[in-house]
Amino acid sequence: MEKILIVDDEAFIRENLERVLAEDGYRPYSTESGEEAVTQVSEEEIDLVLLDLNLGARSGLEVLAQLKEVDPDVLVIIITGYGTVESAVEALKMGAYDYIKKPFKADAIRLIVKLALETQSLRREVRQLRRDGKGLPGSVDMIGASPAMEQVYRQVREVARHESATVLITGESGTGKELVARGIHDLSPRKDRPFVEINCGSLPFNLLETELFGHERGAFTDAKTRKIGLLEEATGGTIFLDEIGEMDTSLQVKLLRVLEDRKIRRLGGTRLIDIDVRVVAATNRDLKEAIDEKVFREDLYYRLNVFPIHLPPLRERREDIPPLLDFFLQKFSRDFNKRIREISRDALDLLMRYHWPGNVRELRNVVERICIMHNTEVIKPDGLPKEIWGGTPRKESTLDLEVPPEGICLEEIVGQIEKDLIAKAVKITGGNVAKTARLLNVPRGTLRYKLEKYQLGEEG
Ligand SMILES: Nc1ncnc2c1ncn2[C@@H]1O[C@H](COP(=O)(O)OP(=O)(O)OP(=O)(O)O)[C@@H](O)[C@H]1O
Ligand SMILES: [Mg+2]
Repeated sequence: MEKILIVDDEAFIRENLERVLAEDGYRPYSTESGEEAVTQVSEEEIDLVLLDLNLGARSGLEVLAQLKEVDPDVLVIIITGYGTVESAVEALKMGAYDYIKKPFKADAIRLIVKLALETQSLRREVRQLRRDGKGLPGSVDMIGASPAMEQVYRQVREVARHESATVLITGESGTGKELVARGIHDLSPRKDRPFVEINCGSLPFNLLETELFGHERGAFTDAKTRKIGLLEEATGGTIFLDEIGEMDTSLQVKLLRVLEDRKIRRLGGTRLIDIDVRVVAATNRDLKEAIDEKVFREDLYYRLNVFPIHLPPLRERREDIPPLLDFFLQKFSRDFNKRIREISRDALDLLMRYHWPGNVRELRNVVERICIMHNTEVIKPDGLPKEIWGGTPRKESTLDLEVPPEGICLEEIVGQIEKDLIAKAVKITGGNVAKTARLLNVPRGTLRYKLEKYQLGEEG
């Protein structure tokens, strides 16, 4: 119901207008005081003000100026007393929508109010559309207006409306998958219900299973009490399954069943429990590849991939770098009480050229480090971490190898280098195949094959 505020010093006019407007289905308020009108407009959303220009002590024009100040978008229709057309024209210049002369007929008021409110709702729509183009209103702070991110925002808004649709978010580490998951929840009709997240890569199979499904008392030796699982806890809301690519295949089967039947059974329980949750899953792995390697189930992939959202790496949307730098610079210089205002042109050039393997998370960390270490107003190249200015992409070879006149055995040498690097990676990860594969950027299957080939000890 549209709210209309009547500001007039004549009680008779106020009552008359209130009645006409109420009859037409609006919610009228009225006051004789300009001051009160300004307070009311600043305190609540008033759609339209009917303002008498000849308000006793304070001139109506002054009140108009103040109304526009507290709410530049408020629509004002001027009521003018003795045909003071000049001040009415003055009012239009100051942003009043229209004016009407006393005495007026009820129908004339009805018409002008209707037209004004139509204009108002159109203006609001346009504003909303404009705002929609930028980020995710009313939700998490996502920075970046590159076409690629605009596309992501559109997808988030779209899928948010479909409150039960399953979403699969893909993208490299640090590209904002978690932010997107939260954005979907916050913009959806489920926003007031729980948002529950779990990292599927951080727990061994059986712990993850009890976390998700819960258990009845006595389900196993340690089950001293009943435990409600996260899928149940998230009822009415959203469950965010992060790093879904790391989930054990036997648990994948159970998850598939949940997505199909929307029911779960607690471990050790017999009863099927209905669950109403939206599943949002995320991964930085290539699931197609994981399917080829038989570590991810194809049927689950298709169940999850109902609505895919892909976050492109930062190096593919470099125009987002400056706004992200600004955003984090402001944030961290505030947090650390520093006066850093800007980044010099040549420092920015370096930051723009850098390949950002860790994406937005890396950028955030770089800015945080800068803010901790410096207290100058302008950041110059020498204030940037080494990897940024040394940071040409790793493509060029760092090995200084020659081909002697007598020739070489390419395969053998390459094999030796490969073996060395894999052995180093295995050492770093303590022999974890999944982690080693990620470190080396090769599929797990490939790594297993090579581990065997070079007889480098494998651990499950
Ligand atoms: N567009 C963005 N605007 C502002 N901050 C962002 C944006 N994208 C990512 N971030 C920030 O970068 C960091 C990493 O984001 P997030 O945790 O969502 O990445 P992720 O894709 O889930 O990474 P991972 O795969 O490693 O879990 C967070 O601090 C997040 O707030
Ligand atoms: Mg994440």
